[in-house]
Amino acid sequence: MAVTRTFSIIKPDATRRNLTGAVTKMLEEAGLRVVASKRIRMTEDQARGFYEVHKDRPFYGELVDFMTSGPVVVQVLEGEDAVARNRKIMGATNPADAEEGTIRKTYAESIEANSVHGSDSDENAATEIAFFFTEDEIVG
Ligand code: CMP
Repeated sequence: MAVTRTFSIIKPDATRRNLTGAVTKMLEEAGLRVVASKRIRMTEDQARGFYEVHKDRPFYGELVDFMTSGPVVVQVLEGEDAVARNRKIMGATNPADAEEGTIRKTYAESIEANSVHGSDSDENAATEIAFFFTEDEIVG
């Protein structure tokens, strides 16, 4: 299986509860390597742009408010089949539906405050990585 990259966000509900290390440990134990990472406060423009695909959904405004409500940690993760591997350890979007042992089952507060984001395809991973990182910030 090929080594690929995916994009991850540790969301404000997790940084607020000081869970950056705990979440990263679960990612690493799932076979993912953090090859780039930065803690940022997302601007409203960044959040609106990043989630533009959801702009017609009823939760879009609240999602933008939530994602700008505190610091987030944006990361590039590398590993075998990284997109699928990350989605497996994250668990379902709604923590009520997430499997035991996943990040969202363990830590998420709600469908909105669900602790982590992960890309859903290799193509979106490349777009999302480029949204927050330059190639020289990805150091392996
Ligand atoms: P994420 O993987 O970051 O992608 C879109 C986000 O929208 C999702 O995680 C949730 O945080 C949020 N989201 C999805 N569905 C809902 C919903 N029904 N109500 C509120 N937020 C939602």
